[in-house]
Order: sequence, then structure tokens, then C-alpha cells
Amino acid sequence: MRKAMIPGSFDPITKGHLDVIERCSQLFDEVIVVIMENAHKKALFDEHERKEMIEHDISHLSNVRVEIGSGLTIEMAKKLGVCAMIRGIRATSDYEYEVQIATANMMLEKKIETMFLLSKPEYSFVSSSTVKEIAMFHGELSHFVSDNVAAKLKEKY
Ligand code: PNS
Repeated sequence: MRKAMIPGSFDPITKGHLDVIERCSQLFDEVIVVIMENAHKKALFDEHERKEMIEHDISHLSNVRVEIGSGLTIEMAKKLGVCAMIRGIRATSDYEYEVQIATANMMLEKKIETMFLLSKPEYSFVSSSTVKEIAMFHGELSHFVSDNVAAKLKEKY
């Protein structure tokens, strides 16, 4: 049985994340979306709010579940017994950062692969940060997030 995890901060989940999760669910028997802390970002939603939003958006995917992680992502991967960690890559600007993390993780545990899925063109410039900025100025969110996430963002701002 092939098990993969998708780590990220998901603050909040976007349609770009969801696309990667859906595609990943076709490639692996089981997929675990793991909410991790990004030390470089201050989160708008707490982990439980983020988990609820992801669970709502993935309710149609029977082989995907969500967990809240802690510590190093590679340690979570070992604990969960996954063979791969999947990250979405949008523009080339993501590449350098992703290679840095993937290489560090490879040095910490070479048996777990990091694999990249290329974002669909329509989502290549969608990020949680952009979405929060649009929400802050009450812009239209339907292209970027689900109706449920859009409602939660509106509550925050
Ligand atoms: O969605 P993001 O914010 O790009 O996700 C980044 C994340 C949370 C996956 C990354 O910051 C992370 O793995 N954090 C946990 C600590 C860790 O393992 N850092 C990488 C080792 S160099």
C-alpha cells in the first residue's frame, strides 16, 4: 500500500492546494494532509480551524485524511510511515526554496522521497498569502478558495 503525505501550512487551503491533493489521491492508496508550522509565517487561522476547512474541502476524497503535525516534517513522515512527501510547485520562484527543504529532508532521511506536482496554470499564482490580502480588501475570492473558506476569511476580516 502506497502512502504519501502532503505537508504545508494551509493558512488557508486554496483551490491550488486542493488540485494537488486531488491529483495525489489518484496516485497513492492513502494520502495524509499534514498541517505543519512554517516558522517564517504568522498564521491567521489556528491549526484546528485549518483542519476543519481542509476536511470540508476534501470530503469527496475517500482516501485522504488530515492531521495536525508538530516538529520536523521529516519526523512526521517517519511516524506516519509514508514513502513520499508531495509538494506543489507553482512558478520557478518556488523551486529554490523547495529544493533547499527537500535536500535537507533527504539528508535527514534518504528513504523518504520528496516529489513535486506542477500546479495547473490557472492556479500557478494562487497562494494563501495572496488570498488573505484579497480578503483583507474584500475582493472576490471565488477563483482562489472554496465558498466555505471564503466565508471563514470574511469572518476574520
Ligand atoms: O505551505 P508552506 O508554508 O510552504 O509549508 C512549509 C512547511 C510547513 C512544509 C515547512 O515550513 C516545514 O516543513 N515546517 C516544519 C519544520 C521543518 O521540517 N522544516 C524543514 C526542515 S529544513
